[in-house]
Amino acid sequence: MAGKNEFYWRRLHSLLGVIPVGVFLVQHLVINHFATSGEEAFNKAAGFVEGLPFLIFLEFIVIYIPLLFHGILGIYIAFVAKNNPIRLGWFRNWMFTIQRITGIILLAFIAWHVYQTRIQAALGNAEVNFQMMEDILSNPLVLILYILGILSATFHLSNGLWSFLVRWGITQSPTSQRISSWVMGVLFVVLSIIGVRAALAFVFPDFFVG
Ligand code: HEM
Repeated sequence: MAGKNEFYWRRLHSLLGVIPVGVFLVQHLVINHFATSGEEAFNKAAGFVEGLPFLIFLEFIVIYIPLLFHGILGIYIAFVAKNNPIRLGWFRNWMFTIQRITGIILLAFIAWHVYQTRIQAALGNAEVNFQMMEDILSNPLVLILYILGILSATFHLSNGLWSFLVRWGITQSPTSQRISSWVMGVLFVVLSIIGVRAALAFVFPDFFVG
């Protein structure tokens, strides 16, 4: 990848990370959070998504194809592309490195998660509902790995939004970038609480539902 072509590929990679993949992640975490209101509430929310017309078609267009593109090009960027071409401070350097590490963790985590849920359902081995997630997460090691996966995703999206705003020329001044760091920091905390609470609700429902 060189010159102008690389510029457009990186722009497409960046855009797909936010729309549709980032938007999907937020929607997915919010639907999962219905688990904190109990089995029935979760099954109803998940059932709404399951009932959407042309679901498999929608999933490929909105999730799998953009995510595969972002993931494969992400691996290339993380391992092959020149690292950190701009001079960054200590904090941003770390954020930049963790962005790449969480991307690689996400590739493995998402493949595993899709295998345990969507693929098992497609093979007729399980049904996507509260019970399925309770069975999966009742193993403490799996629960810990899921929480790590969720935190990787919330970090990767929040920090990714920070660099997205810089890349697309929206935050150019040091002040706007500092404000954006704080906003994305808050976003990371909020999304992480939503995601982790949802995961815990499948295993400790009594703690959440009175
Ligand atoms: C939940 C799934 C994912 C979401 C929501 C997501 C979102 C994002 C966002 C918003 C960005 C910032 C784009 C920019 O800098 O303009 C980004 C960057 C990045 N993503 Fe992802 N991503 C996901 C999965 C992955 C996966 C599976 C990989 C595979 C390695 C990956 C690798 C990368 C890399 C390497 C960057 C940095 C690009 C750069 O420095 O130019 N991402 N991602």
